[in-house]
Amino acid sequence: MRYRDWLPAHVDLAAIESIHTAREQWVSQPKKGFLRYRVPYEVLREFRAEHRDFTTDTVTIGAAEEVSDEKRAVIEQNLRGFMPWRKGPFSVFGIGIDAEWQSNRKWARLQAHLPDLHDKTIADIGCSNGYYIFRMMAHKPRWVLGFEPAMQPYYCGRALLAMAGCDNGAIDLLGVEHLTLFAETFDVIFLMGVIYHRAAPLDCLRTVCQALKPGGTLIFESQAIPGDEPVALFAEKTYGKAPGTYFIPTGACAVNWLKRAGFSSVDLFYAHPMNGEEQRRTDWMHFESYEHFIDPANQDKTVEGYPAPWRIFIKAGVRAS
Ligand SMILES: C[S@@+](CC[C@H](N)C(=O)[O-])C[C@H]1O[C@@H](n2cnc3c(N)ncnc32)[C@H](O)[C@@H]1O
Repeated sequence: MRYRDWLPAHVDLAAIESIHTAREQWVSQPKKGFLRYRVPYEVLREFRAEHRDFTTDTVTIGAAEEVSDEKRAVIEQNLRGFMPWRKGPFSVFGIGIDAEWQSNRKWARLQAHLPDLHDKTIADIGCSNGYYIFRMMAHKPRWVLGFEPAMQPYYCGRALLAMAGCDNGAIDLLGVEHLTLFAETFDVIFLMGVIYHRAAPLDCLRTVCQALKPGGTLIFESQAIPGDEPVALFAEKTYGKAPGTYFIPTGACAVNWLKRAGFSSVDLFYAHPMNGEEQRRTDWMHFESYEHFIDPANQDKTVEGYPAPWRIFIKAGVRAS
């Protein structure tokens, strides 16, 4: 576990190590479902890119001319082994990956509001395949730890980090609930696209708050419902066909959650309705996407008849001690 050397002395390394070991043993089982993602990771991590560019919308790892056509075919075959690609875009040794989400748009909305990331310790909670970790890398942080408990994005992100040779970035099979082990550890935490998947959002935000150093900053992004009242929608069964979605707040509700979770400054800096351009089916993601989650006769409603989603962006600070 490479990132152990980065952690402050008060962090209980043995506890983190035991979770890491248990989860690694679990995903290392020689079962078909586990090997499906582990095998492409093991093939791809052997390729090391010379050219890297994390400053533009497309995260670039390696140029086409760095590998032979034969090797590029092997790389593409293994990259496709990680399908469905949810976050992107990436260019890997000249292979363009058009993911379901145009994650560059989210990054563009928050870029002007970022705290200083240079030489900072950062956590990206629910980091998926690490698209935003790469964008953070352009700011030369001290290190970035991605928390990602799902096996497919975990292996995909680790393969990308290995090919890019990012020694100050890591992804571990941890969930937001494990932040309790990281008291006052991070200068900056990103919690994007996660809160509506938590059944107890306030407890989750309190956990996030205590993992920040005094004076630290949270960048929070969430699905939201439109409206000015401080209320949250709780669907009967699914919201936009997603069963794992719980409380979907208005912007005002999310601001109140963050204040009552212990954040001292809370600034909602952007809100926008979602659309089918930003999240859509592509050649790298063949399943249903945004257009299938929305009522075809009324774009303001989900297929269940709930208000169609917005996205909200909030910057929240912890008081300096
Ligand atoms: C909607 S995606 C958001 C991805 C990315 N942060 C973004 O904003 O585009 C939610 C991510 O959270 C991950 N996740 C699921 N359970 C989690 C948990 N308990 N803690 C942290 N992340 C979790 C999922 O696997 C998925 O990658």
